[in-house]
Amino acid sequence: QAQEAPVELRLKEICELLKAEIPYYTWVGFYFKNGDRNELKLGPFAGEPTDHTIIPFGKGICGQVAVSNKNFVVPDVKAQDNYIACSIHVKAEIVVPLFKNGENIGQIDIDSDTPDPFTEEDERFLEFVNERVAEIL
Ligand code: SME
Repeated sequence: QAQEAPVELRLKEICELLKAEIPYYTWVGFYFKNGDRNELKLGPFAGEPTDHTIIPFGKGICGQVAVSNKNFVVPDVKAQDNYIACSIHVKAEIVVPLFKNGENIGQIDIDSDTPDPFTEEDERFLEFVNERVAEIL
């Protein structure tokens, strides 16, 4: 598909922009549902590379959002038992599902080294970002 490469680049730029502009966004990435497999696959991201390029549905914060279709705000990752650590520095996380034609096709995932930084403003903002992203997918 001719448009695939540019979309990947644009998503990568969105990640880089969000990480650069919002000081408490330490790691920003997109995960997408991986075909018919019951798993998420890492897409474009900004920040340190993660070992968790594949996440089964239900596992970790990301895997839970893949099945709940709901935002998941984690003020303190240490308080979560179904959590997959990507870096020992991460204190908090927010995952917002990405809907295309009403279907949950993936998510934006943000890690923060700042404790409890995410507000409803982040949720509304990231929902807006995902709506714009869905338009170019
Ligand atoms: N912490 C996530 C895994 C992805 S990394 O944050 C990049 C989780 O628990 O699903």
